[in-house]
Amino acid sequence: MKKRKSNLSLAGALLFFALIAFIIQVAVLVYDYIIQRTDNKGLIAVLILIVVLILSAICTVIDYFRRKIMVERPVEKILYATEKIAKGDFSVRLTPAHSLEKYNEYDIIMENLNIMAAELKKSEILKTDFISNVSHEIKTPLAIIQNYANLLASDGLDEEEKTRCLKALSQASKRLSDLVSNILKMNKLENQEIKPEYSTFYLNDQLAEIIIGYEELIEQKNITLDCDLDEVKINSCPAYLEIVWSNLISNAIKFTDTGGTISVTLKAHDKNTVVTVSDTGCGIDKETGKRIFERFYQGDTSRKSQGNGLGLALVKKVIDVLGGDISVSSEPQKGSTFTITLKGVLYE
Ligand SMILES: Nc1ncnc2c1ncn2[C@@H]1O[C@H](COP(=O)(O)OP(=O)(O)OP(=O)(O)O)[C@@H](O)[C@H]1O
Ligand SMILES: [Mg+2]
Repeated sequence: MKKRKSNLSLAGALLFFALIAFIIQVAVLVYDYIIQRTDNKGLIAVLILIVVLILSAICTVIDYFRRKIMVERPVEKILYATEKIAKGDFSVRLTPAHSLEKYNEYDIIMENLNIMAAELKKSEILKTDFISNVSHEIKTPLAIIQNYANLLASDGLDEEEKTRCLKALSQASKRLSDLVSNILKMNKLENQEIKPEYSTFYLNDQLAEIIIGYEELIEQKNITLDCDLDEVKINSCPAYLEIVWSNLISNAIKFTDTGGTISVTLKAHDKNTVVTVSDTGCGIDKETGKRIFERFYQGDTSRKSQGNGLGLALVKKVIDVLGGDISVSSEPQKGSTFTITLKGVLYE
């Protein structure tokens, strides 16, 4: 927030200086005028007293209006706004009385109040959106669990039907547990509860290990896997980076149809480490591409039943914390490439 120069005290001081100078000047002139015309000391004293009283009254009236305009009015506006905010109305906004370059303290307070109210409004929207998104994401798997549990409890199911019910129950509960663990991770990252723990390790080994963890899924979908991993030693947080690679690779598998191809590359350029995860899947259109890093956002082509739209939001958060960069290039029906650049973490 920019700190602006205030001209309130200077303007007030100048006004007072002018008023006092004016009183003294007029009093001197009147005194001079009277003593030239009369020797009556009593009359002189009374006349001077009257002039001083009149001038003081004029000054008091001027000062009253000066305070009314310069102090009371803005304070009243500020009080009104703070009362509204205290009652939970964050839509209130104040208009500073001066243009930006002539801002005084009150204008600065008003502008800061506007910013505060806007921030509170934003976090209120985030909170309500979050609650409604989470409730929505919980509702579907819970309904599935309830239906299949009822079905299992009914008589006359053959073994095949029972297996189908159990599979559906297991998938729905996995979805719930993934949701909870992603929310917890996101929460910890946002509140900076888990700080990155840096160590020096071979990134190619970490990527290979994670890819092996997905081997079964890759085989099930008959996906061809191309890996081109240079030997790259980096100094970064392995736990954080694991979140990135597993989300990108699981997305690539999820959004690629049977028989497609997934490629993972790792290269080191100058002091930067670049990882790409590409697939020949359904791709991402322009509109979806703008929103994929938002929490709970899932594109039209998403397998909505297989996720909650938190994966890429987590990835983005991690990359921001580690000081890197993530970009995506994609063509609908052709595939997508996610490129991650980790800056200055290369270990010689
Ligand atoms: N490789 C990809 N190919 C096509 N679309 C993708 C790809 N990766 C992400 N998307 C789009 O971006 C959306 C957001 O991705 P994100 O990983 O955040 O959520 P998700 O995979 O749907 O759910 P979750 O990650 O919580 O399991 C997806 O729903 C999908 O529409
Ligand atoms: Mg995902």
